[in-house]
Amino acid sequence: MFDFAPRLTHGRVAVRPIRMRDARALERELNGNREWLQQWEAQLPGTRPPTSFDAKGTIRGLLEGARAGTGMPFAIEVDGEFAGQLNVSGITWGAVQGGMLGYWVAERFAGEQVTPTATALVTDYALSDGRLHRIEVCIRPENLASLRVVEKLGFRYEGFRKRFIFIDGDWRDHLCFALVREELAEPVLQRWLNGRVPEFDRRVYQLPIGTQQPTPSTDN
Ligand SMILES: CC(C)(COP(=O)(O)OP(=O)(O)OC[C@H]1O[C@@H](n2cnc3c(N)ncnc32)[C@H](O)[C@@H]1OP(=O)(O)O)[C@@H](O)C(=O)NCCC(=O)NCCS
Repeated sequence: MFDFAPRLTHGRVAVRPIRMRDARALERELNGNREWLQQWEAQLPGTRPPTSFDAKGTIRGLLEGARAGTGMPFAIEVDGEFAGQLNVSGITWGAVQGGMLGYWVAERFAGEQVTPTATALVTDYALSDGRLHRIEVCIRPENLASLRVVEKLGFRYEGFRKRFIFIDGDWRDHLCFALVREELAEPVLQRWLNGRVPEFDRRVYQLPIGTQQPTPSTDN
């Protein structure tokens, strides 16, 4: 087991480093939530959405990244049950010290504030003991539920990335958000729980959200 972070908890929600013995639960949730997850899942360009999962291989890869310092892969638990996953990936050290945070929960846990709680816990850890300076989250404009996670936690909108990540069979546009250490007067979790997150103004997006985006042209 490689513990790059402690177990972080708030209420019924815990995030802790993923481990090999999560493989069975991970595989069960990935298989049991196909319709729920597939449209938001990154995949290798040119491949088809997976129909089966090598959960052990996935976890092995995530742990290799953690050992190399390029990732922080967490399991999300609700009342001790494996509920989903949260990864900080693509960590760059040196003069950048930032990484990209992504997440999912099984459908049966949706709408219970599990992901914002997990995201706040990990962001607070990453920007303090995790020694990162910046956490970024990128979300498809169609994904209203995920946009709500960053909006309610007060991530700052940074802009639009055209055809940024290959998801569900095509390159997809993303809206990107970030937080840097110095802009937080208090921990993200505390700010949210105490109702001190500034109101989010969706006019910054300058494009319709929650609807299917126009099919991008393939010639650029
Ligand atoms: C996006 C996702 C992680 C949000 O997690 P969550 O733990 O449900 O987050 P929240 O409880 O804060 O709910 C977020 C929004 O989901 C919507 N929601 C609430 N209940 C829901 C339900 N039963 N089913 C679907 N969406 C629901 C609401 O719009 C909610 O916003 P609100 O709290 O302002 O009403 C989760 O929906 C998910 O895993 N989706 C599939 C994978 C995915 O999209 N990953 C993110 C890729 S960027």
